[in-house]
Amino acid sequence: MTAVLSISLDVNGERVETRVFPRTNLADFLREQLKLAGTHVGCEHGVCGACTVRVNGEIVRSCLMLAVQADGTSVETIEGLSDSGEISDLQNAFRERNALQCGFCTPAMLMAAQDLLKDEAEPDRARIREHLSGNYCRCTGYQAIVDAVEATARARKGRRP
Ligand code: FES
Ligand code: FES
Repeated sequence: MTAVLSISLDVNGERVETRVFPRTNLADFLREQLKLAGTHVGCEHGVCGACTVRVNGEIVRSCLMLAVQADGTSVETIEGLSDSGEISDLQNAFRERNALQCGFCTPAMLMAAQDLLKDEAEPDRARIREHLSGNYCRCTGYQAIVDAVEATARARKGRRP
């Protein structure tokens, strides 16, 4: 019989105390045990960025982290950021500029973009591209995504988008 381990963590501000298999990664734990399906799984090898979440305020690829490694941490997923309103302007900008098509990359792209904007008030387009370079999108060609992030940064600074 495979052992299970007890873990205790905060997920989107709520305490979660549960048991996991030692080899379950954080992405699968969030999706399958907690039913937080906004965290997507593409490559499962740390390449595509689709599984991006925040752990203790830092973005991580949840396919590369075991759920047991999240014991004692605070995890935030796209559901938490969306419900809190933290990225509502970013979400609107993505919608307005058609910065998503199939939407598979979008939750993680929004999380990565917010990670940039919370630290840098006015990144230029090259900086935005650099920061998002670990998040792959097969549909949009990135132009509209960069437009949306740039517009959000300007709007947050009180400038015209
Ligand atoms: S699924 Fe994690 S980086 Fe691709
Ligand atoms: S919108 Fe389809 S992968 Fe980005």
